[in-house]
Amino acid sequence: MNKKIARSGTFTDNMKLPIHRWFRYSAGFSAEWVQSEIQKYEEATGLKARILDPFVGSGTTVLAACATGNEAYGFDGHPFVARIAKAKNLWHLDESEFKEACQKVFENAKSNQDMTQRHDETNLLGKCYDFEALTKLDRLRFSYEKLADDNPIWELVRLNITSILRACSNVGTAQWQYVLPNKTKSKVLDAFEAFLGKADLMASDMEYAKSANWKNLAHIYEQDVREAIDVPKCNLLITSPPYPNNYDYADATRLEMMFWGEIDGWSDLKTAVRPTIMRSCSQHSAADKIVLDEILQEPLLAPIINELTAATKELEKVRLTKGGKKTYHTMIAAYFFDLAKIWKNTRSVMDENSKICFVIGDSAPYGVHIPAEKWLGELALASGYQSFEFEKLRDRNVKWKNRTHTVPLHEGRLWIKG
Ligand SMILES: C[S@@+](CC[C@H](N)C(=O)[O-])C[C@H]1O[C@@H](n2cnc3c(N)ncnc32)[C@H](O)[C@@H]1O
Repeated sequence: MNKKIARSGTFTDNMKLPIHRWFRYSAGFSAEWVQSEIQKYEEATGLKARILDPFVGSGTTVLAACATGNEAYGFDGHPFVARIAKAKNLWHLDESEFKEACQKVFENAKSNQDMTQRHDETNLLGKCYDFEALTKLDRLRFSYEKLADDNPIWELVRLNITSILRACSNVGTAQWQYVLPNKTKSKVLDAFEAFLGKADLMASDMEYAKSANWKNLAHIYEQDVREAIDVPKCNLLITSPPYPNNYDYADATRLEMMFWGEIDGWSDLKTAVRPTIMRSCSQHSAADKIVLDEILQEPLLAPIINELTAATKELEKVRLTKGGKKTYHTMIAAYFFDLAKIWKNTRSVMDENSKICFVIGDSAPYGVHIPAEKWLGELALASGYQSFEFEKLRDRNVKWKNRTHTVPLHEGRLWIKG
């Protein structure tokens, strides 16, 4: 398989694409691939595609739909991430006005000496930035907060500041989920230069999108899709849900949320983010809150209950032999229960003959294989979809190096007919 096709199940190529590249989100797929799927769908059916992405993340699917002039609806339960997608969806605003607003913030930040400094080496911000870097970023933040009004252009200014935070840190804050304060990096950007550079890039992307005839047809909502979805009927669903692999989406934006004062630390994620996203990591699936035998009684899990029970019971045993005693048994049960609800909710807003694609990977917590695509396919059929098939894109975990288990894994597209 050629490298580009394998990468279409990742975010890598989006970092070269206008608008998509404004914020690097660790889990996504290629916008060019989404555009080609929209085109294929329309050629095959003769219908205009109306698109749904129930896990919109940083907005790859719905922004690809802007480029092709298709109406699209996107949801994300993570408040910080939904705000990023909504901000990217403001690409159609006036780029000169945006640059002027950035310039004002910069001038104010440069001259603002009277801001209180909050560098504290005992917290995550203090570990990620030296005094000068955090002071500059804070000046940008305070200037933004002082100057911003109701004009949506300011959301783009805020996104600019958010998007440079990791590049201005001298420690390991790259695209991975957790910040690594003990890992230093060689290339660190100056906050003011990064802000001005990003302002230029964003403005030229806004100009590009207009010249390429993008249409502003995306509707983005901050909503947990385990709750009912209210949108016009759609016929094409392209998404990538969390995988059952312990990736912690709440923790993924801890640095940014602390910077903006939305949380004081890790424990605040419990109330600020976790309640509205599905359970896909052990930190979100404490065994004292989720009782395995109770969740396995849920009728929505009936289609996969035998295999799910066998795997979760094994995990319940294996964890007792491990130092971390991670609650993968409740995590896996809750994960499939949450997705079973989401299948039901998407089914009710998808047309009879719709096409659905879930970019998904399997997992093997504590070495117990969880065939996510198979179980998700079976849950989809039980919620009223017609058929499913899996197209493998790439193998994972085949090199065994530094791995906690040796189960070969894969990632690909789960195609469902609706
Ligand atoms: C794999 S990412 C999607 C990335 C996306 N394709 C992009 O372009 O950035 C999965 C997303 O699902 C969101 N999510 C998790 N549980 C959710 C829920 N119950 N309702 C809505 N969104 C949810 C997470 O916050 C995360 O942003």
